[in-house]
Amino acid sequence: MTQALSNRDERGHALPVEAAPRTHLEPVSQQTLPVLAPVPRITVHAFCLNPETGVAIQRAAEDRRLRRAAFSVEMGGTAAALARYATSPSPNLIIIETSDRARDILADLDRLAEHCDSGTRVVVVGAANDVRLYRELMRRGVSEYLIAPVDPLQLIESVSALYTDPDAPPIGRSIAVVGAKGGVGASTVAHNIGWALSGLVEAQVTLVDLDLAFGTASLDFNQDASHGLADALTAPDRLDPVMLDRLLVECRENFNILPAPSSLERDYELAPEAFETVLEVIRRSVPFVVMDVPHVWTAWTRQLLLTADEVVIVAAPDLACLRNTKSLVELIVKSRPNDRSPRLVVNQVGVPKRPEIPLKDFAEAIELEPTVAIPFDPQLFGTAANNGQMISELQAAARPVASFDTVARILSGRTFEPEKPKTGFASILAALKKTR
Ligand SMILES: Nc1ncnc2c1ncn2[C@@H]1O[C@H](COP(=O)(O)OP(=O)(O)OP(=O)(O)O)[C@@H](O)[C@H]1O
Ligand SMILES: [Mg+2]
Repeated sequence: MTQALSNRDERGHALPVEAAPRTHLEPVSQQTLPVLAPVPRITVHAFCLNPETGVAIQRAAEDRRLRRAAFSVEMGGTAAALARYATSPSPNLIIIETSDRARDILADLDRLAEHCDSGTRVVVVGAANDVRLYRELMRRGVSEYLIAPVDPLQLIESVSALYTDPDAPPIGRSIAVVGAKGGVGASTVAHNIGWALSGLVEAQVTLVDLDLAFGTASLDFNQDASHGLADALTAPDRLDPVMLDRLLVECRENFNILPAPSSLERDYELAPEAFETVLEVIRRSVPFVVMDVPHVWTAWTRQLLLTADEVVIVAAPDLACLRNTKSLVELIVKSRPNDRSPRLVVNQVGVPKRPEIPLKDFAEAIELEPTVAIPFDPQLFGTAANNGQMISELQAAARPVASFDTVARILSGRTFEPEKPKTGFASILAALKKTR
């Protein structure tokens, strides 16, 4: 084992390298959270030795990305696994923690293999940071070797990698935007953020208007409404990339919308699974999906907010929004322990003559700092809405444009070079671009 080792083996597996030990439970806010495809409906049995490993696996099992997998976690390590599979069939995946020396681990795994179905995969959690052992385990068909202590995200990533088709396109980052109350500007914020994001990342962004009956994406982008999304949701299994392509409406390069029907001809009582299936097809086709989630509380809106990669809550600085934001934040934080807190956009700040809760008090009460606060500007927002334009199209220098850019940057999960002040020729070019 030397530091010159690459930290990937020839099959692309992460190699344990002494120089870079894994850290335990690094705070979520410090990490770049990976965007992972949800794993299929598999059964996973874990046999741990250390209670901390059990806790980490349990935390991973409750994660949104492993939601479809059925986990059982017990103590007893390899001995318990051997006893169990001597008499009962093995699951899709076994996670085994061991503290033995290399030779004993290999002997135990050979015995376990005799009792396992051929489709069963094995992940080993061990104490030894030993590349020779790692290679030997891989040679014997072990899917992954993780060095204890493991953290939940590391486990989630490993399990997800095992069940993701390496040839499938990567899954796009999903961003759900919801209002703490009706009419607070959640759709306006969702649309402007999606637009800003597509300009920033130079990659495809799709905005999905999930307010099926009353959605305004078609109006805000000056496009026709369409029944496409409702059709896809009523027959989710029929949606494939070709059909999706027909349904998307391109507003500019790298920015599409999937408009809502915005019609009351039928009702839209749909199952959460329909949204899940449709969103997965969309996420397979674009790197960023922004969802305009209506302010209703149903099984599917709840599921959307609990499973999105990022959640943005839009609130006005009033008491109802404060109470609702607090409830939403509490639920989201509790249900997503391996994710960041939702982002808060306080909108419509400074409505004349309307008493307001000061931003500082608002933030203190919900224990979450707003990412941005956007002033109430009826002239600007009203004109943009009536013209079917985004704020940056109407007035590129308006203050909310910088706020939408800030939120888009954060949601992109990418790091951007701070913009250098333009000098000389560059500033003339930039000025020319702006006037075009
Ligand atoms: N900062 C702002 N200043 C002034 N007007 C705004 C601001 N933000 C949004 N609006 C206006 O508020 C109205 C409601 O906005 P929007 O439809 O985006 O809200 P919503 O929260 O999505 O509502 P709904 O609950 O109906 O979905 C629109 O007319 C919009 O132009
Ligand atoms: Mg709306």
